[in-house]
Amino acid sequence: MKTIRLSVLLTGLAFFCSAALAQQLPALSGITIEDKHPNGCVDCHTQMGDQDYRLNAGLKNNPEHPDINEVTDIVPESCKMCHQDGAEAGAMNLISHKVHYHKPPAENHFIKYYQGECLSCHQLNSSTGQMTVKNGPKNW
Ligand code: HEC
Ligand code: HEC
Ligand code: HEC
Repeated sequence: MKTIRLSVLLTGLAFFCSAALAQQLPALSGITIEDKHPNGCVDCHTQMGDQDYRLNAGLKNNPEHPDINEVTDIVPESCKMCHQDGAEAGAMNLISHKVHYHKPPAENHFIKYYQGECLSCHQLNSSTGQMTVKNGPKNW
């Protein structure tokens, strides 16, 4: 009887410790958690129900933005056709970082719902140490 209770207690303790440990780990896509956005931009900017979060739809709200439907195929790589470093239209790194981090945390959906995670868009190969930017085929 005593041994049974002890093993129950120990199992409970081990479970408690591993749950506490899991909670302490930061969310790092592909490292501590499954990478839910392996293709980067296009895995979040999708059509959800009646909301269209696709990038081409968002850009249509800016009348100054050229139509990108035909010219882009891989995102964000093809955006760099116009958004290369030093471009007047803004470089892709600056645009991407600004739109996701400039709003205060309390009203920033990228920070609130996605932990503002660098690894949403970047991929870290922990074997080679190389950091790259994820790309995916356009979803429009
Ligand atoms: C993990 C999910 C996620 C990924 C990956 C992601 N975004 Fe976003 N993005 C968001 C969210 C959430 C917002 C809304 C932020 C806010 O204003 O509260 C947003 C906002 C934006 C906006 C401004 C609003 C709009 O839709 O026009 C642009 C532009 C944008 N993202 C471009 C990109 C680009 C380019 C990439 C890839 C380099 C990218 N995003 C990757 C989640 C994501
Ligand atoms: C054919 C050229 C071209 C392509 C391709 C292009 N853009 Fe642009 N983009 C522009 C120009 C020009 C502007 C400046 C428009 C303005 O004055 O508002 C701009 C502005 C923007 C802005 C607003 C920048 C800011 O600082 O407010 C965002 C966001 C943006 N582009 C995202 C994208 C994304 C994401 C892609 C790829 C899916 C893309 N663009 C592809 C030409 C392009
Ligand atoms: C929404 C997508 C997105 C997020 C989130 C994001 N990045 Fe980036 N980052 C990019 C893109 C796109 C580029 C430019 C890629 C290219 O030019 O090919 C870039 C480029 C960079 C670069 C190299 C160019 C430069 O700006 O000096 C660094 C360093 C970088 N990111 C660091 C970070 C860090 C640190 C975080 C987290 C705090 C972060 N990024 C979060 C999309 C993102």
